Amino acid sequence: MLTLGIETSCDETSVAVTDGENVLSNIVSSSVHLHKRYGGVVPEIASRFHVEYIMEVLEKALAKARCPLKKIKLVAVTNGPGLVGALLTGISVAKSISYSLHVPILGVNHILAHLNSAFLNRDDKPKFPFVGLVVSGGHTVLFFCEKTDRYKILGQTQDDAIGEAYDKVAKILGLGYPGGPVVDRMAALSTGKNRVILPKINQDKNSLDFSFSGIKTAVLYYVRNVQRETLKDRLEEGLVRDICRSFQEIALDSLVEKTFIAVKKYNAGRIVVGGGVAANSRLREKLFTMAQINGVRVHFPEMKYCMDNAAMIGSLGEKLYRKGCRSDLYLSAEPNLKA
Ligand code: KG4
Ligand code: ZN
Repeated sequence: MLTLGIETSCDETSVAVTDGENVLSNIVSSSVHLHKRYGGVVPEIASRFHVEYIMEVLEKALAKARCPLKKIKLVAVTNGPGLVGALLTGISVAKSISYSLHVPILGVNHILAHLNSAFLNRDDKPKFPFVGLVVSGGHTVLFFCEKTDRYKILGQTQDDAIGEAYDKVAKILGLGYPGGPVVDRMAALSTGKNRVILPKINQDKNSLDFSFSGIKTAVLYYVRNVQRETLKDRLEEGLVRDICRSFQEIALDSLVEKTFIAVKKYNAGRIVVGGGVAANSRLREKLFTMAQINGVRVHFPEMKYCMDNAAMIGSLGEKLYRKGCRSDLYLSAEPNLKA
């Protein structure tokens, strides 16, 4: 069933053509370069970018898939969570196509779609049930998934999302936006294992919720102290690397620890990870190591499907449509849509 996926929830304008879990095309145009100087996504700029580029991205996606628009049998579009103005562009385009082609439209939850990414273009697909972990710029959610449409939320962040914490730490360290990839790289270059001691996250062992604002604030205080002592704004590069490493180890250990508490509690044999932070090299290393020790499998998406993309939306949309989920032309943007 050829499905057109549309994703415009944040700063990526993306359109894909999918057939089940096969991706025929997945075009992503990002406005990230326009947000860099503000240190975060500016909603108005993101919205304007979507309006400007969505038709071009749509044409490219159809051309790459060698699929004329009239062959599309379903339009799946992110309807939340996300920035309202950004979501509305994707939804409006989806409605126009659905109306003019007389094909169904289905609103798809962005967080759940991230979990679907690990199924895309894979020979070795995850099998249900599994513990799911969505780690992105806006979300940190731990799931137990029995089926595509049957899942339970085990825990989520009580404050900052993990990707948001990476972005804020990068901002404090003057490393630019987005922060995740650069903090990941800097941490890998660190040689001073115990030079920067930051407080561990105070984890409630009885809860599977997360909290990352404390570790972010600890980085801020650490940097301010160094600046006060050295009377310099700029930190020496080696120290920046060590701070990145220390922050990253603490933040990721908390994710890994809670994931494995969930694995044990639900006797799960598999873990599925999704979202931008799933691209993190150290998170992959830690989860693979722990998975091997505990005899479980861990599935990550291909790198290109970690970040926001329309293929995850199209593919999940088709699965849900086949299970009977329906939307109509009254579909609205839901900025605070829950998983
Ligand atoms: O899934 P995504 O594209 O957008 C949201 O749904 O939020 O995730 C973007 C987030 C950003 O916070 C970015 O800094 C983070 O993913 N990220 C990373 C890495 N690559 C991207 N975080 C840590 N390590 C990375 N390698
Ligand atoms: Zn996302």
